[in-house]
Amino acid sequence: MSTLASLEERALADLHDCTDEAALRVWKTRYLNDEVEQAVKKVSTLPPAERPAYGKQANELKKKLTAEYESAIAAEKERALARSLASEALDVTLPSRPARRGRLHVSTQTLRSIYAIFADMGFQIYRSSEVEDDETNFGLLNMPEHHPARDMWDTFYTTKPGVLLRTHTSPGQIHVMRELCPRPIRVILPGMCYRYEAITTRSEIMFHQVEGLAIGERVTMADLKGALIAFARRMFGDERTVRIRSSYFPFTEPSIEVDMDCIVCAGAGCSLCKRSGWLEILGAGMVHPVVLRNGGYDPARYSGFAFGMGVERTVMMTYAIDDIRQFWANDLRFLRQFGT
Ligand code: PHE
Repeated sequence: MSTLASLEERALADLHDCTDEAALRVWKTRYLNDEVEQAVKKVSTLPPAERPAYGKQANELKKKLTAEYESAIAAEKERALARSLASEALDVTLPSRPARRGRLHVSTQTLRSIYAIFADMGFQIYRSSEVEDDETNFGLLNMPEHHPARDMWDTFYTTKPGVLLRTHTSPGQIHVMRELCPRPIRVILPGMCYRYEAITTRSEIMFHQVEGLAIGERVTMADLKGALIAFARRMFGDERTVRIRSSYFPFTEPSIEVDMDCIVCAGAGCSLCKRSGWLEILGAGMVHPVVLRNGGYDPARYSGFAFGMGVERTVMMTYAIDDIRQFWANDLRFLRQFGT
């Protein structure tokens, strides 16, 4: 009995000396798992008469020390939590580190400038899908199957027959005409186009175009010229002059290509314009009667013009960039040069 009393005294004194969780665990191993267990087991070695009283006291000691231990370890955990909260406290009033600001991709910036210029001329934005069908990308644009002009657009076909990635924004002409006919139209159709080409400094497999389309009862080539000259001057400077060459597209008749005097040498000839003095900015023309009809318009009554320009090409001309692969290479050293 007296050994139990002294065990209790020692155990409690040691318990109070424990200052952290590790010490408490050591205490538990020493007393609860070892000495107290031994003391409890000792009951079987006593004369039968002493067993009940001893056994009772030993069990009570075990219960008491277990309870003391539980409450000591709970208190220690509370203290540890309070310590870590205090030492890791955040001062939310401290000024933050400046976050590096992102910026819009140069193609997006340029698209937005183009939208703003055409918006001032009354053009709305019409969006259409990058995944097209063969019929809309080619057939309804006056290029039936096996038409040789299809060779002008190397195409990504999908595994689904007749479904492809649009090679130009022109199929959007069909969508907008069918939606709005017979009302007049004045829209631009911006977006990504895809061509199955070898990637070089001058050609990428994906790029943005901005298509323009105006349909009405008396739309003429003079309107096309006026719109394009106004655009070139707002985009590239008031002093720009524009030159028109005849060209061929199956969906316009007549078709033209538009050059402007070189922004670097103003026509004198330099490396940007390859000594020609001119930069090609876009293809255009009067909407072909077949295309008008496919869009739901009677070509005897309505006419229209269309144009299509490559956005990255435009950026390259503006900043004299000589490698189109820079646009999707995700090199921040390139991208950071544009805009604020
Ligand atoms: N879709 C033509 C191209 O990608 C450009 C174009 C658009 C030409 C509209 C005429 C009219 O080359």
